[in-house]
Amino acid sequence: MVSAQQKMPVYLDVTKPIEERLENALSLLTTNEKVELCHAQSKFSSKGIARLGIPEVWSADGSHGVSDEKIWDEWGGAGWTNDSCTAFPALTCLAATFNPEISRLYGKSIGEEARYRNKTMLLGPGINIYRTPLNGRNFEYMGEDPYLASQMVVPYIQGVQSNGVAACVKHFALNNQEISRGEINVNLSNRALHEIYLPAFKAAVQEGKTWSIMGSYNQLRGEHCCHNDLLLNKILKNDWKFDGVVISDWGGVHSTDQAVKNGLDIEMGTYTNGLTTKGNFPYSGYYLANPFLKGLKDGKYDIALLNDKARRILRLIFRTTMSANRPFGRFVSPEHSEAARKIASEGIVLLKNTNQFFPIPAGKYKKIAVIGENASRSMIVGGGSTSLKAAYEVLPLQGLITKYGKDHVEYSLGYASGRPMYGREEPSRLNADSLLNAAVEIARHADVVLFVGGLNKNYFQDCESGDRKSLNLPFGEDKLMESIQKVNKNVAVILLSGNAVAMPWIDKVPAIMQGWYLGSEAGNALADVISGEVNPSGKLPFSYSKKLDDIGAHSFDKLCYPGDSVNIYYKEDILVGYRWLDTKKIVPQFPFGYGLSYTTFAYSKPTVDEARVTADGIVKVSFTLTNTGKIDGAETAQLYVSKSKSSVIRAAKELKAFKKVFIKAGEVKLVKLEVPVRSFAYYNETKSTWEVEQGSYTLLLGSSSRDIKGKVDLDIR
Ligand code: BGC
Repeated sequence: MVSAQQKMPVYLDVTKPIEERLENALSLLTTNEKVELCHAQSKFSSKGIARLGIPEVWSADGSHGVSDEKIWDEWGGAGWTNDSCTAFPALTCLAATFNPEISRLYGKSIGEEARYRNKTMLLGPGINIYRTPLNGRNFEYMGEDPYLASQMVVPYIQGVQSNGVAACVKHFALNNQEISRGEINVNLSNRALHEIYLPAFKAAVQEGKTWSIMGSYNQLRGEHCCHNDLLLNKILKNDWKFDGVVISDWGGVHSTDQAVKNGLDIEMGTYTNGLTTKGNFPYSGYYLANPFLKGLKDGKYDIALLNDKARRILRLIFRTTMSANRPFGRFVSPEHSEAARKIASEGIVLLKNTNQFFPIPAGKYKKIAVIGENASRSMIVGGGSTSLKAAYEVLPLQGLITKYGKDHVEYSLGYASGRPMYGREEPSRLNADSLLNAAVEIARHADVVLFVGGLNKNYFQDCESGDRKSLNLPFGEDKLMESIQKVNKNVAVILLSGNAVAMPWIDKVPAIMQGWYLGSEAGNALADVISGEVNPSGKLPFSYSKKLDDIGAHSFDKLCYPGDSVNIYYKEDILVGYRWLDTKKIVPQFPFGYGLSYTTFAYSKPTVDEARVTADGIVKVSFTLTNTGKIDGAETAQLYVSKSKSSVIRAAKELKAFKKVFIKAGEVKLVKLEVPVRSFAYYNETKSTWEVEQGSYTLLLGSSSRDIKGKVDLDIR
């Protein structure tokens, strides 16, 4: 008989430290059980230890909202009726807020939803660097600058994990395009790797303390990134001291030997037949299932390799589902709607605003023509794994009708695309000419036209597993724009996209707004900014180039993009985004960090506490910001560093600090930025270390990467 006083096993004792609990649990497991922890048991889960009450690991996509429950073995929705989430704005929008506190709110809110749904792990955020505007997944990421992405990802992770749910930062690493993503072998310098593509992941691990990370599909130096010795063993686990779990991308594992030895912990989604159909491969056949077990039994693999994986997986479980401090979460709460609306409206970027076209207060115009499919199309569905089943979505058209009244808004589709399909395009069956003519008719008689266009979540647009085919707007939008302009000059363009687009019509339109994919509150947030209830304060997290050839990745041959399907060579090296444009003196359409406001700001000359600093010191920069306009607003001041004489190639400037400051009309605020000198370091390839060069530097204070308001020289000794 079991006595009531029988001692509680250590692993169940929540008063004990996690490390003690997991060592105790580990000692109770058989080899078989440990191996079972290391691979999927269903499309989105892996086994726990049922006999010991150790829960299974359940994950859910993704970065923008917690996806619906899936059928056990399939990608399809399971048809539950209680799993429709709040859709938050895409991560490009979040990055455009330049506001780490908003990122924390995002992480906390989405983490609460994941917790309520009892997930162990949220499969996000994504932080791959924006290398080309053709990448179909850029909307899921945080832009082109490693510092911006680092600053934004850390509070997101902390917010998610405060709920006892692991963030799973993805895709580690170099998943910068979707063409040939499953096999393309990325060739790049160690400098580009460490200076551009890894810093956000490093921050996620060392500052964000993420509990899990997802390997990417592509290869680096001949090894798939889900089992890549350099990335996972050497950099992530050894150099960065990552103590969490590495999970594979779905179908990203290709070898038992490498998966065992090169740092993968959990294998997911193997043999998913192009990711679209039901997997008919038994989970016991996974690379980290029976073949692993056999290798262990045959003495081919050291048991220490298995113990390391099991230890990490148990640590994940103890940090999440077996944590005594796990709050209860909440799902589709009014607070989450409010958060989604706030994030969305703070991320919208005002790109052009001639003669104060915006804001448009209610009552200003009697007849507002809203034209464009994106005004009435769901942007929550489609795009691949970020596709969501949302509780609701306020479409742009609805938001505008609510703001201006239905008697003042007339809508015409203007152009049409087909349904969002994964892996294939389905064109619209509607007649393009009729749509165009109908739109032109309503434009002709309107006081103002709001064209709501851009890209969408269809294949070959902003969608996983395919890249865009060109920088131009799709679905005949350019032609439609031209036709509208002929009958009405009072036209603004509102772009919903996760990528930059070409703007052949730019000189003919007085106003442009970059609206992203904004989630459940899209329409309300857009209407808030358009009407002036919210003063726009978003800044571009990536450069808007005039044409493809202006971009580093597109300035060389095909091997530089999209590669020859076997290899790709990052020939632009460290010069990604504005680093390329500024160094090569190419004028972008809109620069990185750019965004207008309904008010104006003035910068004082920046000063530094000390003009001579040591390599381990901190540079303290001060200046004042004045809101010189008539309404309250927010400005993101950006500090770039420039080194003219250097022993290595340097970008013309690099972002090292930024601060978003809310300032009342007429108010003056003193702003102080602190920048550690070690952040000026470059990666020395010969020594494989970071090195701060001595000598003179210039700090550039700006409102964007191109609008520099003041400079100050600095001497590093
Ligand atoms: C995507 C991941 C996603 C996973 C699970 C993969 O195709 O690349 O980002 O988390 O599927 O849906």
